[in-house]
Amino acid sequence: MQAEKATTIYEKSKPGRRASTLPVLDVPDVSVEDLLPASAIRKTPPRLPEISEPEIVRHYNKLSRRNFDLDSGFYPLGSCTMKHNPKLHERAAALPGFARLHPLQSSERAQGALELMYNLEGALSEITGLPHVSLQPSAGSHGELAGVLLTKAYHEDRGETRTKVLAPDTSHGTNPATVTMAGYETVKVATNERGGVDLDDLREKATTDVACLMLTNPNTLGLFDENIEEIAKIMHDVGATLYYDGANLNAVMGISRPGDMGFDIVHMNLHKSFTQPHGGGGPGSGPIAVSERMAPYLPKPRIVKKEGRFRYDFDQPKSIGRLRGFQGNFGVFVRTYAYICSLGGEGLKAASETAVLNANYMLEKGKQNERVNKYLPVAFDRTAKHEYVLSAAESKRQLDVRATDIAKRLLDLGYHPPTIYFPLLVDEALMIEPTETETMETLDGFIEALDQILEEAEKDPAFVQNAPYTTPVRRLDEAAAARSPVVTQDLDLLP
Ligand SMILES: Cc1ncc(COP(=O)(O)O)c(C=O)c1O
Repeated sequence: MQAEKATTIYEKSKPGRRASTLPVLDVPDVSVEDLLPASAIRKTPPRLPEISEPEIVRHYNKLSRRNFDLDSGFYPLGSCTMKHNPKLHERAAALPGFARLHPLQSSERAQGALELMYNLEGALSEITGLPHVSLQPSAGSHGELAGVLLTKAYHEDRGETRTKVLAPDTSHGTNPATVTMAGYETVKVATNERGGVDLDDLREKATTDVACLMLTNPNTLGLFDENIEEIAKIMHDVGATLYYDGANLNAVMGISRPGDMGFDIVHMNLHKSFTQPHGGGGPGSGPIAVSERMAPYLPKPRIVKKEGRFRYDFDQPKSIGRLRGFQGNFGVFVRTYAYICSLGGEGLKAASETAVLNANYMLEKGKQNERVNKYLPVAFDRTAKHEYVLSAAESKRQLDVRATDIAKRLLDLGYHPPTIYFPLLVDEALMIEPTETETMETLDGFIEALDQILEEAEKDPAFVQNAPYTTPVRRLDEAAAARSPVVTQDLDLLP
């Protein structure tokens, strides 16, 4: 079944149709020319769509139903933690005292907002086990940049010039990108057969010209590094810092803390671990938490509390400076704070435990399914944390059906596909993160969907190779779509 082609609202336009009409003027008519300078007046009227109200409503309603989002179905996008966003948090963020606050409001008149940010910093400090927090960075990758710049400031302050940053070959692409932006060279560290950092390789590469090691723990294979204390020691012995990419914090909240593992700097993805609607570049937040020795370099201003009042402290002479206008994405802070307060410490721990349980349940369920286990074996068969990675290498070899074909066919079956071809060290990777907010039936359904796809592929590989069949757009040239997207329409070319 081929989905109906979308039309633009301009194609639906008919001269003379209106959504609403204005009442007859009850004041004297004044011409626009008398009100505006000639330079501000258009030469031709704008081409606006002429359309009735029901048509407008149906048009946008129909378009919105073409979106796949967390409210429409399961979204096991590995490493992205797409978990349910409780609607209560939306109500909190929409409270007029928060939503209508002007960013230039004086701190005296924004005490409630400052208090929320101050308390949120305290909660994030508790969760990470590190004493100082800045909420400014507005994405995980932005937090990474802040953290690496902090490392640079720290070493420069000590009169040291370091040129390299280490990152495991499982690291997220933003890690090496950050390293380059901060003016360092990335040095890859190998992964051992258990899916952790190869200690021999690390020891060889941990030299005194290394500024830091960027590590995700659990990593993007969903595996907790069993040697984290030794790794911290190796890095600290050469004077380097240890950076925690906290995108996978959903696996460890309330259970283990990066600060206790020896990390100096952590970024958190509030838009992942702390239930924010995200995707499509939508508002994120990547606060950083740091140890005492890194605190002087944090972005400024910091929020301080004195005699019961909150204010901004700009007196931070060693700060790396401001990272963005104002304080960050404030609405995200409100939702995060609501999440932390509504769950409490025990609730956060239960969320992580359930995320880990769900991932391992699904992993085992897949192993017990003969077809899934045969064609899509687990890449590193260990107890996972909140996500795990399958390899479609066997499916490719035996059925000529690749990870991308399976991902496309999942769309037809009503699932958002998992992350594919990442991490790079797994051939034909499918990285699955079920999160704690999904039911057992949903998890079972996904394994059944994989089984169905593989059965279809056994009978007729071309059927799976040509999926999807039900989406508005079939197979895209993905590189061209990402690199040269066409997102505007020339009105003159419309019928
Ligand atoms: C492991 C890891 N690190 C860093 C990031 C970057 O975070 P952001 O997308 O907020 O920039 C991600 C995002 O998916 C991630 O999974």
